[in-house]
Amino acid sequence: MTSPSLSVRIGALELRNPVLTASGTYGLGHEFAEIADLGEIGGVVGKTVTMTERIGNPPPRTFETAGGMLNSIGLMNPGWDGFVADVLPKVRALPCPFILNVAGKSEDEFVELSRRSRGLRGVAALELNLSCPNVAGGLDFSKDTAAARRIVAQCVAASGLPLLAKLSPNVEDVVPIAVACQEGGASAVSLVNTYLGTAIDWRRRRTVFARGIAGLSGPAIKPMALLAVLRVARAVDVPVVGIGGIASATDVLEYLVAGATAVQVGTACFLDPCAPVRIAQDLRALLAREGVADVHELIGAAHPGGGGAQK
Ligand SMILES: Cc1cc2nc3c(=O)[nH]c(=O)nc-3n(C[C@H](O)[C@H](O)[C@H](O)COP(=O)(O)O)c2cc1C
Repeated sequence: MTSPSLSVRIGALELRNPVLTASGTYGLGHEFAEIADLGEIGGVVGKTVTMTERIGNPPPRTFETAGGMLNSIGLMNPGWDGFVADVLPKVRALPCPFILNVAGKSEDEFVELSRRSRGLRGVAALELNLSCPNVAGGLDFSKDTAAARRIVAQCVAASGLPLLAKLSPNVEDVVPIAVACQEGGASAVSLVNTYLGTAIDWRRRRTVFARGIAGLSGPAIKPMALLAVLRVARAVDVPVVGIGGIASATDVLEYLVAGATAVQVGTACFLDPCAPVRIAQDLRALLAREGVADVHELIGAAHPGGGGAQK
């Protein structure tokens, strides 16, 4: 049984396999390097880094739901200076590519964070979090096609890095936003971020989260996220990175057949920090068993003329 070829490309970035970690669910990667063999996965996407340090939202910040979880973390992170001083040296030691996820409060901040990332050793690509629902105004960037196109174009020029635009599902239609990101020069679009939801504490007659709203993730969102990937993959030529409820190698294959070139594993990491490694290993074994020589045979296979695509 020959070993299948699993490597995929996102712009200039080559990944040894399509399995990445999802932002915000795996710290900045280095925290797990001692317990999980990160040389087995395609790469780590770090927790969103913002210009200045953020302490995040008041607790509770997470809440378990049927088939998933709600979170309202509020982009807690050390800010750019803290990231460069304390985290970047550790990230450089990772045995896989590190994709830096950033978010700005304004277009200018997105562009400035991209400019600072240019040529930064240890950063293989940039993911723009255009979608976090927990920051006031944060959603506007991924609701507005003109804004998304403009930000992506400026960040591509400023960073010189392969750029993934991460999209929110909490919009009327995610397809035109994805197309706008492609027009702006994105190397890939990542979807989806969390779906808006809430939880109620009926005894206390109030919402569980101080802000009322939170983001839903995990297996509960997989059918909706898969549909978003299926629809977007039909409309764009750049790679799509599928995210939402992935917990097994078969989940990954479903996303690939729907048109994703790579995937990110999020909530599953809370149950098992080795989940991305296990999923990548299972994927290799499953493809070998099924006689699939190259993962590209499956990418987009659900689309007319799909499969064998070299997106
Ligand atoms: C606790 C938690 C924190 C998250 N923080 C971020 C973040 O900082 N930036 C971001 O782009 N997405 C963030 N996300 C969204 C995930 O990256 C992912 O898009 C979403 O959870 C769906 O994938 P999943 O169902 O596999 O978890 C977070 C998700 C969770 C559960």
